[in-house]
Amino acid sequence: MTDDLVSPHGGSLINREVSGDEAKKLEQQAGSLPALRLSSRALSDLELIGIGGLSPLEGFMTSDVYKGVVENMRLSAGLAWSLPVTLSATTKEAQAFGEGDGVALADEAGALLAVLDLREKFSYDKKAEAEQVYKTADDAHPGVAAMYAQGDVLLGGPVTIFKRPPADFQEHRLTPAETRAAFAERGWRTVVGFQTRNPVHRAHEYLQKCAMEMVDGLLLHPLVGETKAGDIPADVRMRCYEVLLEGYYPSDRVLLSVLPAAMRYAGPREAIFHAMVRKNYGCSHFIVGRDHAGVGDYYGTYDAQQIFLEFTQDELGMTPLFFEHSFFCRQCDGMASAKTCPHDADQRVFLSGTKVRDMLAAGEAPPPEFSRPEVTRVLIESMAPAGGSGGGV
Ligand code: ADX
Repeated sequence: MTDDLVSPHGGSLINREVSGDEAKKLEQQAGSLPALRLSSRALSDLELIGIGGLSPLEGFMTSDVYKGVVENMRLSAGLAWSLPVTLSATTKEAQAFGEGDGVALADEAGALLAVLDLREKFSYDKKAEAEQVYKTADDAHPGVAAMYAQGDVLLGGPVTIFKRPPADFQEHRLTPAETRAAFAERGWRTVVGFQTRNPVHRAHEYLQKCAMEMVDGLLLHPLVGETKAGDIPADVRMRCYEVLLEGYYPSDRVLLSVLPAAMRYAGPREAIFHAMVRKNYGCSHFIVGRDHAGVGDYYGTYDAQQIFLEFTQDELGMTPLFFEHSFFCRQCDGMASAKTCPHDADQRVFLSGTKVRDMLAAGEAPPPEFSRPEVTRVLIESMAPAGGSGGGV
């Protein structure tokens, strides 16, 4: 690994995976431990911890770490960390697990994957977490609803993974060590990370390309863990990214890889989290546009940018790149934002997610100023009854 890339959060990349004989031995031991089946959201966190995506975390948070994160957005060493990474169990399940003992962690089908060295079992205040982290206690918020649905006990401690959870997109599922190696191989020193949970439209492309003018490369890093009902499925999105890259990006300046994280929809807090995680993957820069990781009307359009001001450059250790709401302006005949375009709103092509969804469902293509025709084609095909998935754009 080259030292020219940005340092991982906390200084070094965590690796909580074991292989070969060590993995076999741990798997055997796990067989005699009480086991917990993890939800798909918890499995995403487990995978990310294992591969170092959540460095410096080595496991699920204990109560002191959890408290510092929920109340102050800091880990014990003062590092920025904005979202709890916790493992929940029901009160009944938790009775089987003793502090100081191992807990076998299994996937949804019961296959054993890892061992948690249980340091602490603790209760938590879900409403307080909702209010501090999500800025709302409303259970209509998808992230809050997912947290309310969790068990009432949290299990904290380091994890060791002997088998990675089975997953899609293997050829694009690079670990932080692997993206870093890929960047180094291409001679990149500065890399901008782009988070997305949506099909790529022209505003996304505009943001990415503005940033690409300033750095060596782009990590197009769609999130492929659990998203809310109505979001476009990850396999369709992947096809959109691929056709766009094929037609409109220099291949030696972009790396497409996936982030195996679940979406929390925590807006500002999640923007910090997304940035720190991308730093672990080797990104020196990270794009934050309008309503990053937002949902509904819970957050102001630029709250996810303003939250970065609550941290020093040292605490972040990377550079966020902020973008205003971007659109195609007919009079400028190009992409722009209010910072660069003087024209009236009626010249600006902006379609709401609902509008685009309705158009696609009706087999109608959104205008090329909004979405590249190649991308629109993939989306329309995916909406056809046989392919059958609904979703928002
Ligand atoms: S997100 O939940 O992952 O943030 P999305 O995939 O839509 O949703 O956005 C990816 C990134 O692009 C985010 O940083 C978001 O703020 C930004 N973004 C999306 N659309 C626009 C737009 N029209 N103008 C500016 N930024 C945008």
